[in-house]
Amino acid sequence: MRIAVTGGSGKLGRTVVRELRRAGDDVVSLDAVGERGPGFVQVDLTDYGQTIDAILGVNDRHDGFDAIVHLAAIPAPGILSDVATFHNNIRVTYNVFQAARRAGIRNVVYASSETVLGLPFDVPPPYIPVDEDYPARPESTYSLVKHLEEQMAIELVRWDPALKIVALRFSNVMDPEDYAAFADFDDDPWARKWNLWGYIDGRDGAQAIRRALEWDTTGFDRFIIAAADTVMSRPNDELVAEVFPGVPLKRELGVNDTLLSIDKARRILGFAPTHSWRDAT
Ligand SMILES: NC(=O)c1ccc[n+]([C@@H]2O[C@H](COP(=O)([O-])OP(=O)(O)OC[C@H]3O[C@@H](n4cnc5c(N)ncnc54)[C@H](O)[C@@H]3O)[C@@H](O)[C@H]2O)c1
Repeated sequence: MRIAVTGGSGKLGRTVVRELRRAGDDVVSLDAVGERGPGFVQVDLTDYGQTIDAILGVNDRHDGFDAIVHLAAIPAPGILSDVATFHNNIRVTYNVFQAARRAGIRNVVYASSETVLGLPFDVPPPYIPVDEDYPARPESTYSLVKHLEEQMAIELVRWDPALKIVALRFSNVMDPEDYAAFADFDDDPWARKWNLWGYIDGRDGAQAIRRALEWDTTGFDRFIIAAADTVMSRPNDELVAEVFPGVPLKRELGVNDTLLSIDKARRILGFAPTHSWRDAT
């Protein structure tokens, strides 16, 4: 496939670009920053003119795409002012979705976020493990945009029944070098309660994206994408009893199984995470 990856210079994007290329895809990264080279075009995605033009073609680089992986965003609350986060992220996503539609690209996979599940869970989740079955609970401007983007996608696929937009609600993205810090998490069960002790290895994030791209369907769907385990060595029963007493359990919890349910991604996308911090040396 000829694939545009927005945000291809970022933490998740670098891994995604590398892994898609390794699988044989023809990938061009569209990002505001990056190293000059054949696989990168510098684009300010808040500018619709630049966005549609770069998606339709760029001299000496490409003449169109079969699919778009949209990752470009301010990736968390608290990096910029709330209003700057809102304006950048919602505008970039509208521009990318709209440009995809205008260019006739029907295969769009993009980064939503675990935050829509109600992070940082100062209000406890409705049940554990959390899944895609309850309405979004954005608690920050960043998360509000992720929620609005999912709503936008629902309407866009209604307007164009041939369009596919898949939202991947990624957990906290980790690179192998991040795993050295994990041993310390066990000291304080509250330190990582904000996302139910979840994470996702960037390589498995890339796997989820590839599977979503290859999924032959139309319409909108959303999937939680997390590692198969938590960041903790302490067992789930103990953590949940201490930090979220009284929250109903939707099913029996494995000892260290993820509490961000990936059952739907496993079942529908065939997602099968293969990287765990426990195996990192
Ligand atoms: N990192 C995480 O833990 C995490 C968790 C859940 C979801 N996500 C989502 O995954 C995606 C990638 O996150 P990341 O951690 O790689 O972030 P990152 O900040 O490392 O990369 C994002 C990239 O987007 C680019 N970008 C932002 N605004 C742009 C604009 N207006 N024009 C052009 N390029 C622009 C940046 O230059 C950057 O290279 C984001 O959508 C983020 O919200 C990240």
